[in-house]
Amino acid sequence: ATHLDTESIHEHVILRRGVRSGLPIVVAVHSTALGQAIGGCRLAHYPHWRDGLTDALRLSAAMSDKCALAGLPNGGGKTVIALPPGRTLDAATRRAVLHDAGDVIAGLDGTYATGPDVGTGPDDMVTIAERTPHAFCRPVQAGGSGDSSEHTAVGVLAALHALCAERFGSADLSTRSFAVLGLGRVGGHVLRILADAGATLVAADTDESRRTLADTAGAAWASPQDCLTADVDVLVPAALGGLLTSHTVPTLRCAAIAGPANNQLDTPATADLLHQHGILWAPDIIVSAGGIIHATAVELHRETFAQATARVHGIADTLTDILRTARAAGSTPAAAAHSRARHQIEHGRP
Ligand code: PHE
Repeated sequence: ATHLDTESIHEHVILRRGVRSGLPIVVAVHSTALGQAIGGCRLAHYPHWRDGLTDALRLSAAMSDKCALAGLPNGGGKTVIALPPGRTLDAATRRAVLHDAGDVIAGLDGTYATGPDVGTGPDDMVTIAERTPHAFCRPVQAGGSGDSSEHTAVGVLAALHALCAERFGSADLSTRSFAVLGLGRVGGHVLRILADAGATLVAADTDESRRTLADTAGAAWASPQDCLTADVDVLVPAALGGLLTSHTVPTLRCAAIAGPANNQLDTPATADLLHQHGILWAPDIIVSAGGIIHATAVELHRETFAQATARVHGIADTLTDILRTARAAGSTPAAAAHSRARHQIEHGRP
């Protein structure tokens, strides 16, 4: 790929200093080839706003592949509100910056719709919706489909069943061990469902107060570093991305990886490294799609929660198909997923 690889160029990227908040806001629309671009609004700290811009570009491009593989008639986008290191937001400033973001999204005339992501939730979508109708996952009582994190977690579990069937020859989770790295909204749900399934668990979070979640689930508590390198069957990355690198992969002791964190690989080449180490990596763009599948099914296609949940379970078949395609071709699951997504986007069908 060169800089003239036109499909990789974003359709529209806006960087704006919020008029109310003074904070940097990036809205990146990667592709509308299949339909309206969607992707959550991330509110997070970055060393510099340029890092937030870079993150928005990568995350929105991944959303295009995520939507295509999930069979959605949508493209990829993302909003990033980049907070300077150490900056905290009081309630008024939080409202101000969400209104600033809402105004940017409103200016896109429906080519992009946002939703919750790291650092934002359903109540924040209500605030954004005061400026634009294009915000998914407002609370149910406010007319939205509600918190997407549970549905994302259900999708992760569907993926874990499929992954274990492929890697260990059985979808039974009770005989397997998992290391869940990150106990935020999605990771916390995943841990609880795995505990209910009788799995052996290790868990970690940078926030020590989340240790009670691990205790309740009967999971051993570890430092994030020890959790990453734990001697388990499956590593479940559920925190921020970029944790799989040329430095960390050689230290891993798991046999397979599947989790909801977006952009787990620091660079595409890390997929090859995982393959060389005999670690089966389930592409994050497939594993993490439950939230967006559920939200679009309910809010755009007016399906019931039961119908939407059935679609989320479809993640298992999608993943099985990609893992088998990769194995038959001798390629990595990452390459198989990306080429499938590209093909679907180019041929104009999800
Ligand atoms: N943040 C999630 C994602 O980007 C969930 C989401 C749901 C985003 C609905 C937008 C709309 O996949």
